[in-house]
Amino acid sequence: MMIIIAPGAVALIAAILAAAISIVDKVVNNYGEVELDINDGKKKIKLDGGESLLSSLAGQEIFVPSACGGRGTCGACKCQVTSDVGPYLPTETPFMTKENLADNIRLACQVKIKSDISIKIPDELFNIKKYDSIVKSIVDVTHDIKEVTFDLQGEEINFEAGKYVQLVVPPHGKIKGSTQRAYSMASKPGEKDIVRLLIRLVPGGIATTWVHTELKEGDRVELVGPFGDFFRTPTDTTMVCVAGGSGMAPFMSILFDMLDTGELDREVWYFFGARTVKDMFYLDELRELEKKMPNFHFVPALSEPEEGTPWDGATGLITDVLDKYLKEEIGTDKKREGYLCGSPGMINACNNVFTANKVSLDDIFYDKF
Ligand code: FES
Repeated sequence: MMIIIAPGAVALIAAILAAAISIVDKVVNNYGEVELDINDGKKKIKLDGGESLLSSLAGQEIFVPSACGGRGTCGACKCQVTSDVGPYLPTETPFMTKENLADNIRLACQVKIKSDISIKIPDELFNIKKYDSIVKSIVDVTHDIKEVTFDLQGEEINFEAGKYVQLVVPPHGKIKGSTQRAYSMASKPGEKDIVRLLIRLVPGGIATTWVHTELKEGDRVELVGPFGDFFRTPTDTTMVCVAGGSGMAPFMSILFDMLDTGELDREVWYFFGARTVKDMFYLDELRELEKKMPNFHFVPALSEPEEGTPWDGATGLITDVLDKYLKEEIGTDKKREGYLCGSPGMINACNNVFTANKVSLDDIFYDKF
């Protein structure tokens, strides 16, 4: 008799086995005190072995990006390990490029510290902080996206427009451990005492369900950041930005920062795709911005406009609208940069449109999480 096990069940069994092995390992093995050496002796820490590199660093207030909260599914927590920590786990290899393997880059959430260990991390990670915030306001901007503003209670966050923070979701209901998820900041760098995020409800999503069903104004929430490499180049190259859904967030930060800092000469095109009118938001704010920024052009587009609902913007898939504008309005005879924020599918499709219109892959920027 052949027994067929669904892939989801296999993943669940693997996760339970991994947890069980980890518990047994902890009980059976006592790794004692070990030394963690960071950046060739810049920082040396004594700690108890047996924890993951990611949580050991967090315990020392050194926060490595960890968009999936340490579950081994985002690949964000890459660190260079310069001592021997054993072979790669199957959970690590899918995220490793040839160069990563040559440099012994590892996933910090998957490497367990069992003996003295040496690592190298970018210096800027020493500036990442944990913020103890209070939810200042929650506003429904569409039927499934909430704009949540966090008050940092006197602390200040310094960041470049386009960066993201990790929201720490506490244990709740059947979710026993705390979880972290990454969200781009919609607030602008000048607003140092708050962080504003756009959080779209993802069916079954731990963090988004918690935000949409349990989070209230006045609640205390931890944020960690800022992280990310998604920000505008310090040039005057034409920017072509494309977003959908909560991918709106970094562009609100970037555009309003450009207005605040008087960066008005640069040509910026912003394409925002939504399915129907009820998925569109911030139209008034962006139209106002167009009036104040002479070289800013906003192109909202609906892929499935409903009959009888007024809409005077573009229609069609955002990739088709982008292609048309690249050919007919923006032109292919000058250097352009692509900035993308949305689902992996949208990013891949827009990448194809950009490259077909002679935008170099080196000039296309996005955060993957
Ligand atoms: S934190 Fe996501 S893979 Fe390590």
